[in-house]
Amino acid sequence: MADLLELIDISKTFDVRSGGRRATLSAVDHVSLTVRPGTTLGIVGESGCGKSTLARVIVGLHLADDGELVFDGKQMLTGKRRTPGELKQMQMVFQDPSSALNPRATISESIAFPLQVQGASKSVIAERVATVMRDVGLPAAYASRYPHQLSGGQRQRVNIARALALQPKLVVLDEAVSALDKSIQAQVLNLLSDLQDEYGLTYVFISHDLNVVRYLSDDVAVMYLGQVVEQGSAQQLYDEPKHPYTQLLLSSVPTLDPAESTRDEPVDTADSTEIPSPIDPPSGCRFRTRCPFATDLCAQVVPVPIQVGEGRTVACHLYTTP
Ligand SMILES: Nc1ncnc2c1ncn2[C@@H]1O[C@H](COP(=O)(O)OP(=O)(O)OP(=O)(O)O)[C@@H](O)[C@H]1O
Ligand SMILES: [Mg+2]
Repeated sequence: MADLLELIDISKTFDVRSGGRRATLSAVDHVSLTVRPGTTLGIVGESGCGKSTLARVIVGLHLADDGELVFDGKQMLTGKRRTPGELKQMQMVFQDPSSALNPRATISESIAFPLQVQGASKSVIAERVATVMRDVGLPAAYASRYPHQLSGGQRQRVNIARALALQPKLVVLDEAVSALDKSIQAQVLNLLSDLQDEYGLTYVFISHDLNVVRYLSDDVAVMYLGQVVEQGSAQQLYDEPKHPYTQLLLSSVPTLDPAESTRDEPVDTADSTEIPSPIDPPSGCRFRTRCPFATDLCAQVVPVPIQVGEGRTVACHLYTTP
């Protein structure tokens, strides 16, 4: 089946000040990815690797410097503002369930808002709000409540309902369960999985938590300093990580099985080595300063993603040199 979303060579830089001078920060660099309809693409990587920037480029909240985006067979310009019709096809759910909601709007008003913007009639809005509230497991009586009267998990259900109100094909979830307690996290993940089946939704699911990503994702892309270093099916990637960075990330994931757990506390960064800055990323392979296998070649030549199996790519000289 044709891909629902195809990103081709997307780059996004920011003009910043660094040490009193103007500098260019490379947040997303030549990223190419595809997402099949009805599936979930997970995106993982350490803080600052460009996950949210990429998410914002996908849904049109950021203009990209360069690159192409094909959605549902149609080209969308990545450097121009989207039309309302284009915007409505993709929705985003953010990390913080509270700040995404207007504290002075009732739950039903919040969910109705995107429908009003699109000019839906009152009766359509009322019906749609009731439907999505039911689908995300919010009792009808909550319609007239305010965000502060809800729990964190319930507020995130409201955000999900609002994202679904316009019946988008793609939902980008950026750390959507990261702020929730573990038990609530599991409930919301199950809800997302059920909604995907019910609505035939396609997800881009972003998290720094590899366990959470594995739970929901069919395919996974691993980002490091703005680039995708490895992608493939979740099963292959977790069972047999190929890129040294993916190996490092997975080796520091606390296992969910208490019998296997050897660490006292969870580690959420790959190791204690300092992550280089995206303002002045290392030459050649951006990961080489932390890579145990780095050679001279890695400092000189940027590794391009190469195919290493069905739907599987790795950008690493270990796989490009014989
Ligand atoms: N509006 C902006 N202006 C300048 N720099 C930015 C802006 N947004 C992001 N950045 C920088 O771009 C890089 C990528 O940031 P981004 O928020 O995409 O990372 P992330 O992977 O989502 O991190 P986290 O896991 O902490 O959410 C970082 O170095 C960040 O400081
Ligand atoms: Mg982020």
